[in-house]
Amino acid sequence: MPSQPGDPRQPFEPVLSAEQIERTVARLAADIGQEHPGPEPLLVLGVLKGVVIFLADLVRRLPVPLEVEFLRASSYTGQSRGDLALDDDLDELPIEGRRVLLVDCVMDTGRTLARLRRLLERRRPASLEICVLLSKRREREAPVEPDYVGAEVPDVFVVGYGLDCNSRWRHLPYLGRYDPAADRYTS
Ligand code: IMP
Ligand code: MG
Repeated sequence: MPSQPGDPRQPFEPVLSAEQIERTVARLAADIGQEHPGPEPLLVLGVLKGVVIFLADLVRRLPVPLEVEFLRASSYTGQSRGDLALDDDLDELPIEGRRVLLVDCVMDTGRTLARLRRLLERRRPASLEICVLLSKRREREAPVEPDYVGAEVPDVFVVGYGLDCNSRWRHLPYLGRYDPAADRYTS
C-alpha cells in the first residue's frame, strides 16, 4: 500500500508493513517452537514497553508450553538515547533453572540487551536466549548476538507496532520511519 502524504492511517514511510510483520512473527514463532518443544514451559520475558504488541502476537503463535513475564527498561527520551533505566525487581522473576527467552522489540546499540543478559545470567537460568523483532544495521556499543532476529532494518528511528516516540505512535499497525515533519502530535 503506497504511503500518501498526510494519510492519517499511514503518516510515516513504512519500514515493515503489517503483512511483513505478520510473516516475520510467524517465522520467529516456528523457529523458537522447534528449539523449545517442551514439556517444561519456556519463560518468555518481555522488555517493556515497546515489546507489548510484538509479544502478544508472538506468544499466540508459539506452539509450546510457556509463561509470560515482563521487565521494564528504558533508555530513550524522544529520539535521544539516555542512560539505561531498569525499574523492575528481577529478584521476583522465577529464573533459576528455567529456559528463558528474553524478547525485545529492537536492538539498537545493544546496551539494553547486553546488560539484561548479564543480570539474568547471574540468576542461573538453565538456558537464556534472546529474540528481537528488529535489528538495526549499525555498530554495536555492547556485544550481544540475538538467537532470533525478525528483520534487519536501516539505522533510522522507527515507530509503530509498540515502538514509540515520546509515548506516541505505539498503536500504528506497521513499523514506520519516524519523521517529525509528519508528526501531527507535534506540528
Ligand atoms: P539499545 O540499548 O540502544 O539497543 O536500545 C534498545 C531500546 O531502545 C529498545 O528496547 C527501544 O525501547 C529503544 N529504541 C531503540 N531504537 C528505537 C527506535 O528506533 N524507535 C523506538 N525505540 C527505540
Ligand atoms: Mg521508547
